[in-house]
Amino acid sequence: MAKITAIYPGSFDPVTNGHLDLIERASRLFDRLVVAVLVNPEKDPLFRLSERVQMLKEVVGHLPNVEVDTFEGLLVDYARRKQARVLLRGIRAVSDYEYELQMALMNRQLEPELETVFMLPAEAYSYLSSRLVREVARLGGSVKNLVPPAVEERIRAKVG
Ligand code: PNS
Repeated sequence: MAKITAIYPGSFDPVTNGHLDLIERASRLFDRLVVAVLVNPEKDPLFRLSERVQMLKEVVGHLPNVEVDTFEGLLVDYARRKQARVLLRGIRAVSDYEYELQMALMNRQLEPELETVFMLPAEAYSYLSSRLVREVARLGGSVKNLVPPAVEERIRAKVG
């Protein structure tokens, strides 16, 4: 059977323990997993694209079938270039579902051959988001246990 490449797209500003949990789970299911960081950042990102990529590379270093890359433009076009058959997204709570459903159906409209697969992170991370990590970090709170140690170090270096 043909090997299956999955793309895990996102902003990853920064990668959290929830993302990493999902990456580890998916690396056991798919032959190849490409973690794809969106080039076009939010208006006020905490980390530059190169920093987000570097941190991801550090935290997935133990997973030989996982690559880290960047993309811009339409996700379906990028997936086609990577010969991926699967788009992977994490769903934490019901509140994620509506946005994810819209994106998945739009992507299916654009590229019917590409399947979106939803996976659940460990329930311990069901409240965790990069947005909240950024907010807590900017306000001086501890993000220990929310992000991998390498990310925590960088956050501390950045926000003091
Ligand atoms: O981690 P995020 O910010 O929720 O990820 C959102 C992402 C990167 C998956 C989404 O914004 C995206 O796919 N952007 C690329 C542009 C695109 O293809 N848009 C149409 C998708 S319906």
